[in-house]
Amino acid sequence: MWWQSGTIYQIYPRSFQDTGDDGIGDLAGVRRRLPYLRDLGIDAIWMSPIFRSPMRDFGYDISDYCDIDPAFGTMADFDALLEDTHRSGLKLLLDFVPNHTSDEHRWFKESASTRDNPKRDWYIWKDAGPDGGPPNNWVSNFGGSAWEWHEPTGQYYYHAFLASQPDLNWRNPAVREAMFDVLRFWLDKGVDGFRVDVIWHLIKDEDFRDNPLNPAYDPGEPEIQRHIHVHSADQPEVHKVIAEMRRVLNEYEDRLLIGEIYLPLERLMSYYGEEGSGVHLPFNFQLLQTPWRAEEIARIIDEYERALPADGWPNWVLSNHDKPRIAVRAGERQAANAALLLLTLRGTPTIYYGDEIGIGQVTIPHDRIRDPWALQEPETSFNRDHARTPMQWSATANAGFSTTEPWLPLTDDWAERNVQRMSGDAGSLLSLYRRLLKTRREEPALQTGSYRQLILDESVMAFERADETARFAVIINFSGEPQNVDIPHPYMAGSLVLSSIGERSAYVASPLQLGPDEGVLIKA
Ligand code: GLC
Repeated sequence: MWWQSGTIYQIYPRSFQDTGDDGIGDLAGVRRRLPYLRDLGIDAIWMSPIFRSPMRDFGYDISDYCDIDPAFGTMADFDALLEDTHRSGLKLLLDFVPNHTSDEHRWFKESASTRDNPKRDWYIWKDAGPDGGPPNNWVSNFGGSAWEWHEPTGQYYYHAFLASQPDLNWRNPAVREAMFDVLRFWLDKGVDGFRVDVIWHLIKDEDFRDNPLNPAYDPGEPEIQRHIHVHSADQPEVHKVIAEMRRVLNEYEDRLLIGEIYLPLERLMSYYGEEGSGVHLPFNFQLLQTPWRAEEIARIIDEYERALPADGWPNWVLSNHDKPRIAVRAGERQAANAALLLLTLRGTPTIYYGDEIGIGQVTIPHDRIRDPWALQEPETSFNRDHARTPMQWSATANAGFSTTEPWLPLTDDWAERNVQRMSGDAGSLLSLYRRLLKTRREEPALQTGSYRQLILDESVMAFERADETARFAVIINFSGEPQNVDIPHPYMAGSLVLSSIGERSAYVASPLQLGPDEGVLIKA
């Protein structure tokens, strides 16, 4: 399947390429950059939401699922983008946000109009608790109670995120049918699949019981960590709903369903579903959440490989629009090793736009903070704006992203850290990404071969990818010190495919001297 051998590239459309001179990226911009994406060597694009939205949560609050937001363009722009994407040999995945709508969606306006409106039960309405307060102790992911009092109809409604993002009631079959029609609308247009937003949230406890307190909670953490979410998400019935969603995709050929799921491994695995009834890929966020150390990384790979169901295809995500970027988490000097790891592990890789040029820490002045979570929980939450700054294309004004001031700042080093300059440098991170993607494309062993750990110590981790056509060893020095590594058979007489820090001799001797922060790919 294309989604097993291929690489996914996530675009945050607001920040990819502006063609409308308003400092906000758009669909025509993505279309203009298709040649870049094709040359980079990726296979599929996943775009964060582009649908009509008041943008309180930058598109994750949708007021019309079957229309394009004017900030991003028109439906004609979308159709042209889809056609050109396919013509470039790439797939296009959309972001499906089924858990909640915007409070400006007409469904919610109807639902909120009177208690006996036919759409009342499309959302989650409850009477006040015995003390007149919220019906239970559930907390919003962005802080504060997850219940909003609605004065006109005298009930609370539930919102797992902002109050302007009311949760749909997925236990209601009419909601499910309406949302499946949304999927069909885009599938009929020819989109190749969806990343489904917070899919583990869709079904809540039928009795809305209180969540238990988290004994490990540290008051410095976001408020959402105060409880253990045993009742507000990840309910057994969610798998029936996902199976129905999967059946909609199965009405079409070759389409992909990815689930956004932040859960411990064994719970995550249940989202593959019984006998292929779940999502094809439950996003694996282990790399996003693990300190960048040899032993830790080796451990999560090992645990993930062991936990996978027999027919479950693995996948790895290095960064996304919600978490600090890899160059910040692992450090700038290790960003190349992270690329090497992501693109040689077993399973579908997802690259986040801008990681290929190593976008790192960006200074965001207080008055330019846009992330609603950071604004709502200033002391405790990570500001997601840091992960959403504009793509840097060239050393011209505004890094070639826009003709005007972008909606978020650029990195301080944008004049050097941009596609144009780094393309001309064979030793750049961008050139490494290109070489890795090319090698991965040419070598079935790197796409679908087996995985086996070879070496692990405090600083060095090595593993093998192999099939009947070839055998590769990936050896990574996680430290800033040189390391001597005993090379196991059959890699001793192997040839060096690439090094993460640039040029080195193709001859592989044992012990191999790895430079500080160096990783290598060796073919036996
Ligand atoms: C997901 C998205 C995030 C959004 C939230 C609510 O976690 O990735 O950006 O704020 O859902 O839709």
